[in-house]
Amino acid sequence: MIEDRCYQTYMVQAQTPPAQKGTDAPAAPLAVSTWSGQAREDAVQRMFTAIAGCYDLNNTLLSFGLHHRWKKITASYVPVTTGGRALDVGAGTADLALLIEPRMGTNGRVIASDLNHAMLVEGLKKVTSRGLGQRITCLEANAEHLGFPDGTFHAVTTGFCMRNVGNLQQAVTEIHRILQPGGRFVCLEFSRPIFGWLRALYDWYSFRLLPWIGTKVARDTTGVYEYLPASIRNFPDQERLKQILLGAGFSQVTYRNLSGGIVAIHVATK
Ligand SMILES: C[S@@+](CC[C@H](N)C(=O)[O-])C[C@H]1O[C@@H](n2cnc3c(N)ncnc32)[C@H](O)[C@@H]1O
Repeated sequence: MIEDRCYQTYMVQAQTPPAQKGTDAPAAPLAVSTWSGQAREDAVQRMFTAIAGCYDLNNTLLSFGLHHRWKKITASYVPVTTGGRALDVGAGTADLALLIEPRMGTNGRVIASDLNHAMLVEGLKKVTSRGLGQRITCLEANAEHLGFPDGTFHAVTTGFCMRNVGNLQQAVTEIHRILQPGGRFVCLEFSRPIFGWLRALYDWYSFRLLPWIGTKVARDTTGVYEYLPASIRNFPDQERLKQILLGAGFSQVTYRNLSGGIVAIHVATK
């Protein structure tokens, strides 16, 4: 049965996003990464609404272009099929949805879901400009209450979203529920660098250089450049996330470190 919250789920269309409550109120970025539940969700959503228009450019600049490679490798873990059904959770500007679409084969369908309207509008522009509006649908939905029937999808992907949800346990349990038996969940997320020297360098970049760029160069007032490293620091590392996925009912869970463990791809089977 579809839960009440999911009646709010609707297809995104390329139009001006509705005003969101409190969009101009700056969040307390460092604190937000330690919050959970609704307060975290609201604060995180304010940040994504504020940066949606420049998200892709910022992503490329701040990751030195690496996010394209990370996403391509993530998509390669989605099995190629025919008439496939895939969901990308926290799809944002739809990069991963676009990469997994060809893997769904003839009559395949992909849903790019995200809680944030402004991010999805940017994603929808990319989907329609590639003529893929019939195969990729952009939907507003919360990762914690996806609202699809049990066993709907062959594959679920997510890129850099799990770190931001209010309740991680609930989100991965929900993803497990909507996967078909034998279906695959592929999760790309920031993780813990495996070399000490890389951790030190990465900490300097994240906690010193990035916030400086954010305030002095990008003139950011949302606090997202402080929230980003803090949320990474507070997210479970490779092994801990593996245990959380096993705890949610996935039977096989493996992970692959990329860029020395700056990010990791977890692959889990229902
Ligand atoms: C860092 S962006 C990643 C976007 C895209 N997946 C990518 O890899 O470029 C994180 C996205 O997760 C979304 N998000 C955060 N919490 C969410 C939730 N509870 N449910 C659905 N999406 C959520 C945000 O709105 C945002 O678009």
